[in-house]
Amino acid sequence: MKFFIDTANLDQIREAQSLGVLDGVTTNPSLMAKEGIAGKKNILNHYLEICKIVDGDVSAEVISTDFEGMVKEGEELAALHPQIVVKVPIIKDGIKAIKYFSSKGIRTNCTLVFSVGQALLAAKAGATYVSPFIGRLDDNSTDGVELIGQIVDMYNYYEFDTQVLAASIRHTMHIIKCMEMGADVATCPLSAILGLLKHPLTDIGLQQFLNDYNKLNK
Ligand code: E4P
Repeated sequence: MKFFIDTANLDQIREAQSLGVLDGVTTNPSLMAKEGIAGKKNILNHYLEICKIVDGDVSAEVISTDFEGMVKEGEELAALHPQIVVKVPIIKDGIKAIKYFSSKGIRTNCTLVFSVGQALLAAKAGATYVSPFIGRLDDNSTDGVELIGQIVDMYNYYEFDTQVLAASIRHTMHIIKCMEMGADVATCPLSAILGLLKHPLTDIGLQQFLNDYNKLNK
């Protein structure tokens, strides 16, 4: 299972990268705005900064909602750096754009996915990744993790190459549940990744080992 960090914050990306287990980054226009990144030049430079920090894929989202606009933006983003994956919403023109990008060898992340039918279309269009938003489904009284399982099963059954990228992860247990469902990737806030480290028996055990060592080695 690959770990992506779901942020545009460079300090958090550096911290996650320093752990040595980071496989990539996802961003979206809201995450970029949260960091105060505005204006085309600044946005493109920010993606380049992120690519300098990590070795893996960096999702950069298009703002256009029409085919021509998405193609223009996506080609520009893809040309920026080989690590860039063009993030495209699951709307009618988005599917057309994913199909176009796929035919040109440009990798895509199909975003804002909330149903298995949308995931089917994304895979048929040739998306590299599909991003089901599990936290937002949970917020709306629907089991987001269950959707991950449905998509994984459907992709396995039909042998699609599209990777299931569990998105909108809110906490550590979401990561565990997505792992159990067989998600290929989880894109997570740093806090959820660090949460995987936590166990009280680890803290108690370590303290005991250090106390016992110090008794004889002071
Ligand atoms: C990442 O690809 C998604 O844009 C992100 O995970 C959405 O997360 P949110 O629902 O917490 O905004």
